[in-house]
Amino acid sequence: MQVVTTIEAVRAARRQWAEVGFVPTMGFLHAGHLSLVQQAKAENGVAIASIFVNPTQFGPNEDFASYPRDTPRDLALLEAAGCDLVWMPSVEEIYPAGFSSYVEVEGVTEPLEGARRPGHFRGVATVVTKLFNVVQPTKAYFGQKDAQQTVVIRQFVRDLAIPVEVIIAPTIREADGLAMSSRNSYLNAEQRAAAPVLYRALLAAQTAYAAGQTDAEAIRQLMLATLAQEPLAQVDYVSIADPRSLQELATINQQGALVSLAVRIGKTRLIDNLVV
Ligand code: PAJ
Repeated sequence: MQVVTTIEAVRAARRQWAEVGFVPTMGFLHAGHLSLVQQAKAENGVAIASIFVNPTQFGPNEDFASYPRDTPRDLALLEAAGCDLVWMPSVEEIYPAGFSSYVEVEGVTEPLEGARRPGHFRGVATVVTKLFNVVQPTKAYFGQKDAQQTVVIRQFVRDLAIPVEVIIAPTIREADGLAMSSRNSYLNAEQRAAAPVLYRALLAAQTAYAAGQTDAEAIRQLMLATLAQEPLAQVDYVSIADPRSLQELATINQQGALVSLAVRIGKTRLIDNLVV
């Protein structure tokens, strides 16, 4: 496995391969990230991963400085997952002095995470566009865990005719249902024990929908009641939205729904979702 930092080195290595699967990450890797790398390797023969904690997608009061980092561990995990090349750019490599171009996606960036994290998706769309331009992957892999991010990426890839096939892979969970996340490392033992309440709320929604409930407000109330059973859980939002437009639904129709939520446990903000 080759490890490089510069754009030039990625471009030089890229030339030797016809097809490449690409997995952008912010590091502190877990089984969710590694499943994407394994799929990228299996489907393209070559897997490239990037590790870059992207400053432009963090708000001024968010956790950029404290975001967990462990490069030696990440590299060992990537090597074991069959990764061929790891790109770990510096902030200056991605945002050199004088950098002034950003990718703004309208519409689907506005609700949900976009409403609570102003500028977040501008940062994500900008960095992913730049990573794509350098790596020029055949296919790129993203997790359903960040559902709105997948919709935003599909949108600008289509709008800007970026020649990459976007693949969305299922959310990988801990045994108790908690979606794997680098931010789970912020939780103390008591908070960690409380965290599976997000998944329980999603399962309550799925069970109600499967039993014939299509009224979004009734499902939201059921989810809020589940979340209220956990005193450490502070609800940010519970959403039942159209899976493509991300607009809130009154009634779930044939298109199904993206059921998503954001919950604070202590200072840690967790998100999760299910498509029903
Ligand atoms: P990061 O949070 O490191 O996630 C990298 C990729 O792993 C994303 O596509 C994310 O959806 C996926 N992922 C995270 N947890 C997962 C899980 N439990 N199961 C399956 N996939 C999971 O998302 C980002 O980084 C950044 O926004 C990035 C796209 C790299 C741009 O900076």
